[in-house]
Amino acid sequence: MTNIKAVIPAAGLGTRFLPATKAMPKEMLPVVDKPAIQYVVEEAVGAGIHDILVIIGRNKNAISDHFDSVPELEVKLQQKGDHGRLERVMKSSDLADIHFVRQGEPKGLGHAVLRARTHVGDGSFAVLLGDDLIDESESLLAEMIAAHERTGAAVIALMEVDPEQIHLYGAAAIESTDDDGVVTVTGLVEKPAAADAPSNLAVIGRYVLPPSIFEVLERTEPGKGGEIQLTDALQELAADADGPGVVGVIFRGRRYDTGDRVDYIKAIVQLAVERDDLGAELRPWLKEFAARL
Ligand code: UTP
Repeated sequence: MTNIKAVIPAAGLGTRFLPATKAMPKEMLPVVDKPAIQYVVEEAVGAGIHDILVIIGRNKNAISDHFDSVPELEVKLQQKGDHGRLERVMKSSDLADIHFVRQGEPKGLGHAVLRARTHVGDGSFAVLLGDDLIDESESLLAEMIAAHERTGAAVIALMEVDPEQIHLYGAAAIESTDDDGVVTVTGLVEKPAAADAPSNLAVIGRYVLPPSIFEVLERTEPGKGGEIQLTDALQELAADADGPGVVGVIFRGRRYDTGDRVDYIKAIVQLAVERDDLGAELRPWLKEFAARL
């Protein structure tokens, strides 16, 4: 178990997924039979984190209700003797110590993270984006926490993407280090045009941050899209030779952006095919379907 707390920003507008996200946060979209955000909470718990703060926006109730117990449902399932479903329903309310704070207005990811300041206090903390799904077989977050403990730096997760796609992400300029699997981040640019990108290493939705990031965020002006960008605050840390600096852990595993429609569909198909209770029925159908395309 670690003392690090986790912050899950889930207050974005989810415009790429309208109209599904008109009355429901995108983090509540089901991936097979669990909302995306539950996978993210389970990932934090898997890395030894037990205190989780979710930053919520409008339509907040769906998320907080999901992590609450529902006595009448539990009694019904108990009476029916449906112990499998009862266990799955109760799991989401027993996972961790989950807290909620409102962002008010969606002024950007940096602004959402700043809302965690009081809860986090003066310790380092992890940020997991609520719509970014990392496969449960991966140990990315644990590796990032270990890298933070070794270096004291802010740690970001980087993934190679097609240069054509880099404009959708923050992009990092890096230098290699003697530490295997960790690179020094010398610069960061939010959503650059392909020609201006320092590399095709994209910042993905996992961070382990020192509390000094809050002071930087306090003075970070709105950037790309008029939003207060976490990437801009991290760029300031990367450029400050006297500060803790920024390092990157390169991730080569499976990850889905469930806020993107195609990636969301891929996540559902891949995870369902691998499930013991669904895969056997789904695989032959998928093969037949693919042959007809
Ligand atoms: P995104 O840019 O993917 O979220 O933010 P979005 O703005 O909801 O997406 P689209 O483009 O309109 O579809 C990355 C993460 O940061 C959170 C989002 O909920 C998501 O998990 N976020 C973003 C906030 O919590 N607050 C914000 O003001 C912005």
